Amino acid sequence: MPRRRKIAILIGSRGRGSNMAALAKACASGDLPAEVVAVVAPSPDLPAVEAAKGLGLQVVALSSATEDYPNQLLKALQVREAEFICLAGYLRLLPAEVLQTFPNRILNIHPSLLPKFGGQGMYGLRVHEAVLAAGEKVSGCTVHLVSERYDEGQVLLQMTCPVEPGDSKESLAARVLALEHVAYPKALKALMQKDGPQ
Ligand code: GRF
Repeated sequence: MPRRRKIAILIGSRGRGSNMAALAKACASGDLPAEVVAVVAPSPDLPAVEAAKGLGLQVVALSSATEDYPNQLLKALQVREAEFICLAGYLRLLPAEVLQTFPNRILNIHPSLLPKFGGQGMYGLRVHEAVLAAGEKVSGCTVHLVSERYDEGQVLLQMTCPVEPGDSKESLAARVLALEHVAYPKALKALMQKDGPQ
């Protein structure tokens, strides 16, 4: 039985928390040999925070406007002994201190097939709107390592789905989101296996 690895999930102010929930459920079912040691949220008053509490997860509310945010964030992760960090709707670049402390252990999920339709400002329905405007026939999601640039770290896993004739940005978003919930735990599990038993 591999040791359960400790993961922290960082959510953003616009997130619904659905990827957070997918990761937590994969941990609870045993599909992912991990436990969620913290959900870090920018405010305590978000629907995703309620969802996290409902799943029995420990929430740390930490606004990026907090004085000394980089060190506060790093400390919050270190005191809980987080080993892997999953961004789920976190829209900022991570502080350098955090990137340096967790090399190759910070993941993000993006709702397009990167490098297409990524970069600063490409989030939410904007991504799917751009996919439709470009006339793409296939879309999907990408799980990647996080670097100091938006959406540019090494790709770990991509899953694809068709863009259907008559798709709206909302219908495409829903199809991609369902894929995200499969891809994120799967990519994290593979990364943990590659990392070896600890
Ligand atoms: C997802 O579409 C993810 O790809 C992107 O932000 C969104 C977060 O959604 N990075 P949720 O909060 O996990 O539902």
